[in-house]
Amino acid sequence: QFFTPSPEVNQDSTTIRRPRKGVIIGAGQVGMACAYSMLIQNTLDEMVIVDVNREKLEGEVMDLVHGLPFVQPSIVRSGTLADGHDADIVIITAGAKQRPGETRLDLVQRNVELFKNLISEVVKCCANAILLIVTNPVDIMTYVSWRLSGLPSSSVIGSGTVLDTARFRYLLAEKFQIDPRSLHAYIIGEHGDSEVPVWSKVNVSGMPLFDGDLDNASDDNQQLEEVFAQVKNAAYEIIQRKGATSYAIGLGVTQIVQAILRNQNRVLTVSSLINGLHGIEDVCLSLPAVVNRQGVTRLLNMSLTTKEEQQLLHSSQVLRETIGKLNL
Ligand code: 2OP
Repeated sequence: QFFTPSPEVNQDSTTIRRPRKGVIIGAGQVGMACAYSMLIQNTLDEMVIVDVNREKLEGEVMDLVHGLPFVQPSIVRSGTLADGHDADIVIITAGAKQRPGETRLDLVQRNVELFKNLISEVVKCCANAILLIVTNPVDIMTYVSWRLSGLPSSSVIGSGTVLDTARFRYLLAEKFQIDPRSLHAYIIGEHGDSEVPVWSKVNVSGMPLFDGDLDNASDDNQQLEEVFAQVKNAAYEIIQRKGATSYAIGLGVTQIVQAILRNQNRVLTVSSLINGLHGIEDVCLSLPAVVNRQGVTRLLNMSLTTKEEQQLLHSSQVLRETIGKLNL
């Protein structure tokens, strides 16, 4: 006998935190990078991974669970959407991915067709979950998911420019030799070619680095424009070299999931439905948003320069045009 039964303990359910449960749809490179990052950062108590390719799914999950003895305890398993009935969050990474040279918007029709079936299944099976969309083109897929799901827009969020914002902060922090956590900067708009750097708000711990737009062609400004070009082209550069991006988006998704499930009210440039702000109507795109257990219920009223406003409006128009052509 190894164990002695303990006397019955009064397990008062009000004092026990409900397990946090998430479903990841798609066991590709992005889905598994999200799974790995969330696992090592103790983000979920239970993680169910779903994929149409059962064999690959089983292999990925076996590989992941063999690491459980090295991290905080949690349940990780493969499953189906039906296992998500009590999920708090569903993270969708499934879909066609960019081939070298393709833009994110080139994927749209392929992924919309996939989502037509997927989203209705998700809503049926995981009735209480917040949807976090990662599949590209993420702003369009977030809008499509909102429309197809019938959920309140606060509950349908896209990873948006969280990754671009991280790339921007990383590169600027390198340039100025500052810890990126102390350098605040945002990329807003589309997660894609029309995204907008908010130069007027770049700051180190509250101290602005610039006073407005980078309008004159000084060497310094050209270097900064080059930083933004690197941000905008990062995915192309990585896809060219290794076929896909995965680690940084996995870490970014983890931050979003933590902000939601830990009710952090954290400001993140996630994609959500915009109606009215900056003259934008009926489009999902990224603006600094307060993320908590409700999803996105507040957006920051960010003052922008005239140029930034124009760039943001253009980005919203690119997305609106794409939405207008969809057969939903
Ligand atoms: C990225 O920006 C491809 O959207 C993906 O890394």
